[in-house]
Formats: sequence, C-alpha cells, structure tokens
Amino acid sequence: MQVVLRNTTKLCSTKPIVTVNGHFPGPTLYAREDDNVVVRVTNHLLYRHGVRQVRTGWADGPAYVTQCPIQPGKNYVYNFTLTGQRGTLLWHAHISWLRATLHGAIVILPKKSFPYPFPKPHAEKIIILGEWWKADVENVVNEATQAGLPPNVSDAHTINGFPGPFPNCSSQGYTLHVESGKTYLLRIINAALNDELFFKIAGHKLTVVEADAVYTKPFETDTIFVSPGQTTNAILKADKPIGNYLIYYSSIINSPNCSNIILNQHSTPQRNPNNKKFIDSLKSLNSIQYPTKVPLTVDHSLLFTIGVGLNPCDTCASGSKLVGNINNVTFDMPSVALLEAHYHNIKGVFTDDFPAKPPVVFNYTGPSPANIQTMNGTRLYRLSYNSSVQIVLQGTGVIAPESHPTHLHGFNFYVIGSGLGNFDPVKDPKLFNLVDPVERNTIGVPTAGWTAIRFRADNPGIWFLHCHLEVHTTWGLKMAFIVDNGFGPNESLPPPPNDLPQC
Ligand code: C2O
Repeated sequence: MQVVLRNTTKLCSTKPIVTVNGHFPGPTLYAREDDNVVVRVTNHLLYRHGVRQVRTGWADGPAYVTQCPIQPGKNYVYNFTLTGQRGTLLWHAHISWLRATLHGAIVILPKKSFPYPFPKPHAEKIIILGEWWKADVENVVNEATQAGLPPNVSDAHTINGFPGPFPNCSSQGYTLHVESGKTYLLRIINAALNDELFFKIAGHKLTVVEADAVYTKPFETDTIFVSPGQTTNAILKADKPIGNYLIYYSSIINSPNCSNIILNQHSTPQRNPNNKKFIDSLKSLNSIQYPTKVPLTVDHSLLFTIGVGLNPCDTCASGSKLVGNINNVTFDMPSVALLEAHYHNIKGVFTDDFPAKPPVVFNYTGPSPANIQTMNGTRLYRLSYNSSVQIVLQGTGVIAPESHPTHLHGFNFYVIGSGLGNFDPVKDPKLFNLVDPVERNTIGVPTAGWTAIRFRADNPGIWFLHCHLEVHTTWGLKMAFIVDNGFGPNESLPPPPNDLPQC
C-alpha cells in the first residue's frame, strides 16, 4: 500500500488529501480467517483496527506505541496472522488526524467450508461512514490542540466517500442498488473522526449478525448505533415495493445528515436519543457462542474514569485548556516507541504506575464539585501474562457531556455490563452477564454512566487503550497496558523485525 497525495474534489472544492494508492476511502483488504497476511506499507504507518496481532505486537501500528512512523520513501512490512476472527474490521492511519482520509475496510471471510452462521446473503456491500472537511485537516487539529477549544465539526458526512446531495453544489450521493427479493450483507464501518452515528434505511429492518469481527445472536432493529472504530454486519432484505429509500445517518451530538439513496419514502429517525436508549443499544447484542470464554474470576480489577478535564495553559485566553484523561492522567506521547523501550529495557520513556482507580472518589456523573484537574504522564499499567482483567469504564459528564467510544488494541473484550450513574461495586456486579456477553474491541462509555469489560491478558506486548474520537485521543484520553511475557514456548513477544522504522 502506497501512501500518496491526491487532489480530490468534494463539496465543490478541491484539495490534496493523503490516500492509499490514490483512493478515498482506501482499498479493501480481503483475507480469510487464519490467513497469514503480509502488507507492505510505503511512507506511512497503518493500523489494522481490531486485528488481534497475537504475538505480533510489532505489526500493530500506532505511532510511538508499537513503532515509529515510516519515513517518506521507506517501507515497513506488517506480517501477522488472523487468529480466530471473521467479519469486518477497518484499517486506518494511527497518527495525528490522518485517519480522516487514510482508512479502508478489512473483510475477513470464514475459513473455507465454514459457512456463515446465518443464511448466505445474495451479495455483500461495504458501507464506510466518514467525514469530510473543506479545510485542511491538519489546521483543524491545530485548532483543537493549540487553542484547547473544541474542533470544527466536519462539513459533511460521507458514505463510501460520497457526501450526498448538497444544496448549491451538485455533489453526488451514494446509491446502493439492490434487487427486489434478495438479501444483502452490509458491512458497516464507522470511520468518522469524531462522530458516533445512528444508521438506518427508511422502511427497512436490519438484522445485526456480527460486530467487531465476532458473530452475534441475530438481532433485528431499525437503527444501528455505531461508534468510530466499530463495525457492524447486518442483513438487509430488499422486501419492500420497488422504489427509492433513504439511507440516513445522524450523529449523536452534531447536526443530522441525510444523504444517499437506496432502492422515495422518508422516515423520521431517532435523533439525540436519551441515555436510556444509548444503554439499551449497549445491551442489545449477545454472543452467538455459548459458553463464552469470559473470565469468571478477576486478577486485576480496575476503575477508570473516562472524560475531559482541564490543564493549565499559558498561551490560552482562558488560562486553561481542555484535555482528555483517564483517572486524572492526561497521557503524554513519548518520542520513541513504547514497545521498543519495553523490549530493550530503555529507561526514562514510561513508568508503570498507572493508577488502578481514580485518585479521589467524587460524584463522577453528578453536578459539581467535580474533580477536573489532570496531571500529565506517560504512565502504563502492567499485567502479568494470562491474568484476567476487569475494567469498569466510568463516564464523567464533568465539563463535556459526551460518550466515549473506548478502544483496546491487541484484544477483544467481553462487555459484561453497563448502567446509568455511578458504578455501584456491590449491586452492579450482581447483574453482570457472564453467560453470553458480546465480544468487541470498541465500546461506548455513556456520558452519565458506565460500561464494564473483561478480557484475558494473553497477548504479550504494549497495547493502547484510547477514546476513538480523534479529538479526545489528541487531548490525551488514552493509556497503555504492558502485558508481560509468559513462561511457555509461545508466550513471549518475538524480537522486532529488521525493517522496524526508527525514530
Ligand atoms: Cu482504530 Cu488505536 O485505533
């Protein structure tokens, strides 16, 4: 995959954008479960979001976490095996906001002779939801980071790169052609930078069958909620009278956007749903597998507050700026890759004292007094190999009431519970689903509520956890886990490949 600049026209204006092989969105990677995949990338790093990278931490891709950026004219070969995953994922740039234009789909088909656990659809379609700025995205980032102000919202949402019909501008919408009576597997990917989205097709129901490359129990719905970084496979039945139907999606916070026609019926979708609806959407999916491998005991029990805070800022008009934080730590990126520092035991790059719980207990979701001051640090949390981990991700509504799609690299986790308000360590665990929880790699943490996840730390390396709203990641809403080597023959991280980019 060659990363190249390409002039691109949308919304009646042209600007150069960073692309893979000249395309926006980028090319789809097709593979089969258990395939060994080799991707040669020139000029830039790319992250295969959600690919578990079992013992291939060097191939994960986030800048300054597992590798330094690939310099202009240089290559890096990402070599990894797709272990136990099938469905849809995405690949994207993992530095600054380049993900705006550098992203594409990953389709992992089941092994040959393993059919889908649902009737074979007549055809499959990739639906990539994105955003488009008329401005140079780099300037938008600078606004968000230097002034410490919320960033400009994008000028349009896109489906597969099409911004839809816009007033005063003859731009085009995306059309999905379907044939009456047939069924379609829609592989829906939210590649937007900063918007959690509700997706629907007028007059039609969708049956969700897979999320984040894990099969789910079939779940019928008229609206799919998908956060940046999440993927959802759903079956569409073209069972309505022949005609045109609107494909609609709206953001949880920004203005709704509708574009893009399929097969003239309009409908009024849910907008700005209340938190109850949000929680219901978290609870609606279950694993198809039974029993699951959800850890039943917990070695590391962590409580992470996820939100926005304040940091002093000399150059800002208000004297302080907005930052992201977990447990009041705003994560500072190092200038060498964390994984290299860990592997070669280079001191002074990070500490392994990330707090297991918030420094002070306060009413996380209530009115003030709120605890909003944060401290900077490159602090990691250490997990012994194969230990079981529970994280209660507690949303804080202090300052900016927003939900946070939280993504973990290197693992799928089980989503065992969620609720409104502050997590109650006595009552809430009694309601955890330890039977058929859905497995994901990205989950929404409600603004005035919590989500609990569990996973087994069986993949040695350094694994990033961050909010997948790009603005919050940039503001420091992130941390990383160190997973130590185990003692068995296949339980340690192999040495770095020779072509690993240097800083
Ligand atoms: Cu899809 Cu670390 O992000």
